[in-house]
Amino acid sequence: MKDVLVVYKSRYGATERYAKWIAESLGCEAMPMQQVKTATLLQYRMLIFGGGLYMGRINGVTALTRRFQELKDKTLFVFTSGLTEPGDDGYYTFLFTRNFTEKMRRQIHFFSFPGAVDAEKLSRFHRWIMKMTMQERAKADPAHAQAYLSMKMDFVDRSYTQPLVDKAQAILDGWQEKKQRQQQIRQQAQQDAAE
Ligand SMILES: Cc1cc2nc3c(=O)[nH]c(=O)nc-3n(C[C@H](O)[C@H](O)[C@H](O)COP(=O)(O)O)c2cc1C
Repeated sequence: MKDVLVVYKSRYGATERYAKWIAESLGCEAMPMQQVKTATLLQYRMLIFGGGLYMGRINGVTALTRRFQELKDKTLFVFTSGLTEPGDDGYYTFLFTRNFTEKMRRQIHFFSFPGAVDAEKLSRFHRWIMKMTMQERAKADPAHAQAYLSMKMDFVDRSYTQPLVDKAQAILDGWQEKKQRQQQIRQQAQQDAAE
């Protein structure tokens, strides 16, 4: 069984940037969700899913939730990228609760990272929704109104991935140590048998 795979769904590229950084830090592959079959997921002990936030939903989350029974023995991480104010812990709790059942939440290490938006890249429908949201924000926070109304923001930064990478790496290191210990025990047993 292989150790870890990063799988992501990214509409405009913010989540993809995070996915590739995480994979690079952990020395593993990052694959778009659309290309990944269940059989591939089952080959890994640890799966790290990423998706952008759209109206409180994690893009592509059903790829994980509908296979949850099959993935019940995996170590699972989920990360999102979104434009919610950083530090809004209540919102992250809401997201986690809205997207996953209690049973799923017990198995998932959940992380949220700041995202990006560029009005020029958005579909017409998405631009319309974003415009309404940003008008609300501009009203609530007039000092930053211009930034909101321009709908061009990029808060994506590799440093946000560090807590996830550290946690995943600690688990991977634990597995590696266990493998080495088992190997030593086997070698010792073979030596003892040969003597
Ligand atoms: C139509 C629309 C709805 C969005 N809804 C949310 C939301 O509910 N919460 C949030 O934090 N960000 C929201 N965002 C911001 C996106 O999550 C953010 O731009 C994210 O980085 C996109 O990731 P992606 O490019 O990988 O798909 C929304 C953006 C759009 C265009």
